[in-house]
Amino acid sequence: MGRGGEHHRRLDGQVAIVTGAARGLGLGVARRLVDDGARVVLADVDEAVHASADEIGGATGEVCDVADSAAVDRLVAGTVTRHGRLDILVANAGIGGGGPIVEMDNDAFRRLIAVNLEGVFFCCRAAARVMIPRRAGLLVTVGSIFGRDTPARSGAYGAAKAGVVALTQALAWELGPFGIRANCISPGHMATEMHWTALARRAAIERRTFEELRDEVRLSIPLGRHGVAEDIAGLVSFLASPDAAYITGQTINVDGGFQPR
Ligand SMILES: NC(=O)c1ccc[n+]([C@@H]2O[C@H](COP(=O)([O-])OP(=O)(O)OC[C@H]3O[C@@H](n4cnc5c(N)ncnc54)[C@H](O)[C@@H]3O)[C@@H](O)[C@H]2O)c1
Repeated sequence: MGRGGEHHRRLDGQVAIVTGAARGLGLGVARRLVDDGARVVLADVDEAVHASADEIGGATGEVCDVADSAAVDRLVAGTVTRHGRLDILVANAGIGGGGPIVEMDNDAFRRLIAVNLEGVFFCCRAAARVMIPRRAGLLVTVGSIFGRDTPARSGAYGAAKAGVVALTQALAWELGPFGIRANCISPGHMATEMHWTALARRAAIERRTFEELRDEVRLSIPLGRHGVAEDIAGLVSFLASPDAAYITGQTINVDGGFQPR
C-alpha cells in the first residue's frame, strides 16, 4: 500500500484477454488478473460472459467463438482499440466430449479440433501479430493431462491438446526473438462443469454412480482433491511476473501430482 491509499499492483497498466472466461478455469484466471491490476477482456461463446465480467468488476465481456478466426481477429483488434495494447493472452476456451474413435463421425471429431486446437491457433496468431511490433507479450495456452496420456473415448480431445503443446513450443521459438514468451498450462482433474459432465457421462456408460467415480478420481490424486480455478490462476499470475522472465516453451502440469496409468 502506497501513500494516500494508492496500491501498486503487479500488472498495473497491462491488458489481458482470457478466452472461455464465462465460467470455470477461465473465470478464475480473469479474476486473478484483475486482482493483479490488469485490464481484462473476458471472451466466451456464451453470453453469460457479460454477467461474469460484471461480477468480477473492472472487466469487459465479449462474445466470441474462438473457432471463428474472423471473430477472434475482431476480438483482438477491438481490445487494442479500446485499451491501446495487449500484453497477455490466455487461450483457455475448450470443449470436452468425444467418444470411441470408431464410432465418431467427422463433425464431432472436427468440432473438438476446431475449438480446442484451431481456436488456440487463431487466438495466439492474432495476439502475436499485435505483440510483435511492441516486442513484448505473454501467450498462455491450456492443454490437458489427456494431451499427455489419452484415455479411451478422448481421442479427438487428446489429439487437440497434444497439438496445443506442439503449437506452444513452435510459438516459443518463433516469438522468443521478439521478447514474447509462450507456455502451456496442463490441468489435471479440475472441479468444473467440464469435468463433472465427463464424469456423469462415464458413470452412465460404466453403470456406476457419479459419486463413486468422483471419489475414485479424488483418491487417485496425490494431493487428495480436485483442482480449482485458483490453482491455474496462480500459475498464470506467476508466468506474467518478472520471476518467469526466462520461462518459455514449457508445458507445466497443474494436476495435484496425478500420474496416469
Ligand atoms: N476441467 C478439467 O478437468 C480440465 C482438465 C484439463 C484441461 N482442461 C481445459 O481447461 C480449459 C477450461 O475448461 P473448464 O474446465 O473451465 O471448462 P468449462 O466447460 O467449465 O468452461 C469452458 C468455457 O469455455 C467456453 N467455450 C466453449 N467453447 C468455446 C468457443 N468455441 N469459443 C469461446 N468460448 C468457448 C464455454 O462457454 C465455457 O464458458 C479447457 O481448455 C479445458 O479443455 C480442463
